[in-house]
Amino acid sequence: ARLVVLVSGAGTNLQALLDACADPAYGAQVVAVGADRDDTGGVRRAEGAGLPTFTVRIPDFADRAAWDAALTEAIAAHEPDLVVSAGFMKILGPAFLARFGGRTINTHPALLPSFPGAHAVRDALAYGVKLTGCTVHLVDEGVDTGPVIAQEAVPVRWHDDEESLHERIKQVERRLMVEVVGRLARDGWTAQGRRVSMKCRTC
Ligand code: GRF
Repeated sequence: ARLVVLVSGAGTNLQALLDACADPAYGAQVVAVGADRDDTGGVRRAEGAGLPTFTVRIPDFADRAAWDAALTEAIAAHEPDLVVSAGFMKILGPAFLARFGGRTINTHPALLPSFPGAHAVRDALAYGVKLTGCTVHLVDEGVDTGPVIAQEAVPVRWHDDEESLHERIKQVERRLMVEVVGRLARDGWTAQGRRVSMKCRTC
């Protein structure tokens, strides 16, 4: 399966995918990496791996719809079977969903539907939950609202701050995302037995 991975930050989830894809038995390959901002660690990792990259920044467009259309075209040029939002911190728009809805997944550092949004780890700590975790889900038009594919719990420790808790979640998140992408690449089924409508040309 061909993967396009979208990033906004350090790209450690991308790195986990790149490492997994090094094994041909994994069944997937990252064909391009896209970002919404300049100078991300994720794009640097992709360049280091010799992969094509593209950056589509909102401020470079007249409005959100024009950005959505340009991002969709940039992704489509690489003909992905599956799009992976791996720390991509923008809401994907209607043009994108018309083309890639049902075959785009996102990883989120909380147990959805608790703590959606950009500050999930901070919000979980502020609430005082003793158990949080990570979720891999299909992307829909909402903010972290799409159908859940996989989740794993991570305990909150009494001395955690946002950074320490997020780092512990990310260790689990990377493994979970690699598992889900591998499963989708190989057989296209979710844990709930739902078929993910991805156009997979290699399986
Ligand atoms: C992950 O925890 C992701 O869920 C969140 O941002 C983090 C991205 O980390 N939205 P990285 O850029 O993959 O290192």
